[in-house]
Amino acid sequence: MNFKRVAIIGGAGRMGRWFSKFFVKEGFEVIISGRMKSKLVQLKRELPSINVAEDNVEAVKCADLIVISVPPLDFKAVVEQIGPHLKAGQVVIDLTSIKEVPVQLMHKYIRNCVTLGAHPMFGPSATDYHQNFILTPTSEEEQKLAEDIKRWLEIKGFKVRMMSPIEHDKLMGTILGLSHFIGLVALDTWIDIGLEELRKIGGTSFNLLFTLADNVVHSDPNLYAEIQMGLVSTEDAELKFKMNVKKWLGILRKKDRQRFIEEMVRLRKAFDGHSLR
Ligand SMILES: NC(=O)c1ccc[n+]([C@@H]2O[C@H](COP(=O)([O-])OP(=O)(O)OC[C@H]3O[C@@H](n4cnc5c(N)ncnc54)[C@H](OP(=O)(O)O)[C@@H]3O)[C@@H](O)[C@H]2O)c1
Repeated sequence: MNFKRVAIIGGAGRMGRWFSKFFVKEGFEVIISGRMKSKLVQLKRELPSINVAEDNVEAVKCADLIVISVPPLDFKAVVEQIGPHLKAGQVVIDLTSIKEVPVQLMHKYIRNCVTLGAHPMFGPSATDYHQNFILTPTSEEEQKLAEDIKRWLEIKGFKVRMMSPIEHDKLMGTILGLSHFIGLVALDTWIDIGLEELRKIGGTSFNLLFTLADNVVHSDPNLYAEIQMGLVSTEDAELKFKMNVKKWLGILRKKDRQRFIEEMVRLRKAFDGHSLR
């Protein structure tokens, strides 16, 4: 990659901090901006080599690469603000967990330079680079940039997939939306039954689901609301899930042991090649 100076908007947020550390480690000059000065100053204490910008406009002025790491609801305000200050030769990448709307907003408000939608498929607690990364180019120019970035990320150890923003959002309804939904509903059910007691004696299966619920419930409620209510594909996946809940409950209520076993064997076969075992 031909970049030297990286600006991270939302640099003191959860993902912003991760990417600030990442780019510093990879030898880039990093400048961060955000709303709360105290958070930016705190990160500067931890990473003395980074620079803190007065605002987003100052951050983008001298950067080759601009990374936008703000929540979906703040995204439009940021691209509207920085758009007029960007120039040819700069590159803007966003990290938003949904892609169609942010990519459209970048195209609308950032007219002078190339933009690219990206979604790191990991959270701020990731400790290595063996993680999935999605890039969503929509034109020849973006495709070329995405290929360069893909090559670079793959050298670092990331697994990179390219797809359209629409395809990405379609998949995220299941990958994120349904998984979060199951975590929330499971936790709600455990609380009704008595979480304290369940936690004390829970075994392998319970602890697996507990880890999911724990992650979900400690994530940003605004971001998760956006994934639940802003993605049609989440609604679709949850509708399919509801139909399957109905089907499985039907088998159980009828005490149809034979059908239960057949269904379980069918699922195991469908799982062939994907199992973690
Ligand atoms: N968390 C994840 O697991 C994860 C994974 C993949 C992708 N993502 C995506 O990464 C992005 C950031 O998520 P996050 O979890 O890091 O959220 P976060 O912890 O809430 O951080 C967001 C940052 O954006 C800043 N911000 C908001 N509005 C701003 C504005 N107008 N100008 C400048 N800075 C602004 C906030 O600053 P203040 O704190 O000062 O208000 C905050 O530091 C989201 O789009 C999310 O979808 C998140």
